[in-house]
Amino acid sequence: MSDTIQKLRDEAIALRREFEAALAAAADPAALQAVRDRFLGRRSGAVSALLKSVARLPEGDRRDAGQELNALKAAIERGLDELGARISGRVRDEALLRERLDATLPGRRSYVGRVHPVAVVRRELEDIFVAMGYEVYDGPEVEDDYHNFEALNMPPDHPARDMQDTFYLEGDAGLLLRTHTSSAQIRYMVENVHPPEVRIICPGKVFRRDSDVTHSPMFQQIEGLVVGRGIHLGHLKGTIEAFLRELFGEYPVRFRASYFPYTEPSVEADLGCIVCGGSGRIAGGPCRVCKATGWLEILGSGMVHPAVFEAVNARLGRLAYDPEEITGFAFGMGIERVAMVRYGIDDIRLFYENDLRFLEQFPG
Ligand code: DAH
Repeated sequence: MSDTIQKLRDEAIALRREFEAALAAAADPAALQAVRDRFLGRRSGAVSALLKSVARLPEGDRRDAGQELNALKAAIERGLDELGARISGRVRDEALLRERLDATLPGRRSYVGRVHPVAVVRRELEDIFVAMGYEVYDGPEVEDDYHNFEALNMPPDHPARDMQDTFYLEGDAGLLLRTHTSSAQIRYMVENVHPPEVRIICPGKVFRRDSDVTHSPMFQQIEGLVVGRGIHLGHLKGTIEAFLRELFGEYPVRFRASYFPYTEPSVEADLGCIVCGGSGRIAGGPCRVCKATGWLEILGSGMVHPAVFEAVNARLGRLAYDPEEITGFAFGMGIERVAMVRYGIDDIRLFYENDLRFLEQFPG
């Protein structure tokens, strides 16, 4: 049975109808591609197969048949291209609609950090002393026995050296985490290039094996040391009073006799309670902040013990600080303690829990 041009024409007409129906049903790029494969695919496309069968027609029909089929192929290509353009236009419109953004909506605020309340108080303390002519000196947090204890008149059997209280570093170098900033007094005197005149503060972190509502294993102190000719207890009291007035305002200050191995005499300074006004009672009950005493302990201080100067001289190998010629006073206080009093906080651990709900309450 030989192919005739009529049969080919019928097939072309049927193919065209089928194509139009398929095109009308294609709604997305994948369906469109399937239609293209079905009709124009190189191997199994229906039009391609029909074009091949032209070769089997009688010689005289081939030209006409070829032209007709090529016209069909071109019409199919046009149809596919037009629908393709329409589909990709629609896909783009949908994407634009989906990704539409409203430039008039308010932006999302990023979190603005602030200075930690302990750092705020520390800077305030530094500013007050710098204004009084003090130099700020930074000592190391890892110290040795000489600076932290020995030179401060705390001999090897002193209870503060107990492993219970002090973090010792591993190894036999005898290193430890300083338990107070008083170690920086010694370091400064040993390193000072202009002895015996000294007027410094040393703020920084200190470490003790302690943890409860009023103790944190790491906390901060600020140390003060003034050395020179004719320095006496009046200078100490006047300095502390001026400093407390600057920091808290007009409140009574009292000095109590105390004991520290590195000062003689030693005194502690108390401030009239700024919460209850010194009465010990507030809102009909006992004042929590001063524990109903009417006073807040703020700092330890005293006149530098001659043994401290002697320990420094021994280290230097010369009489740089002659206890017969010079005297000095020293003081030390906890910065968190000052911040707690200032802001009425009763648990020191709050400062180091990094809870933003707590930290955001402070001006910074
Ligand atoms: N080092 C003491 C402490 O940690 C504070 C102190 C007391 C420092 C008396 C001094 C001082 O310089 O003279 O509690």
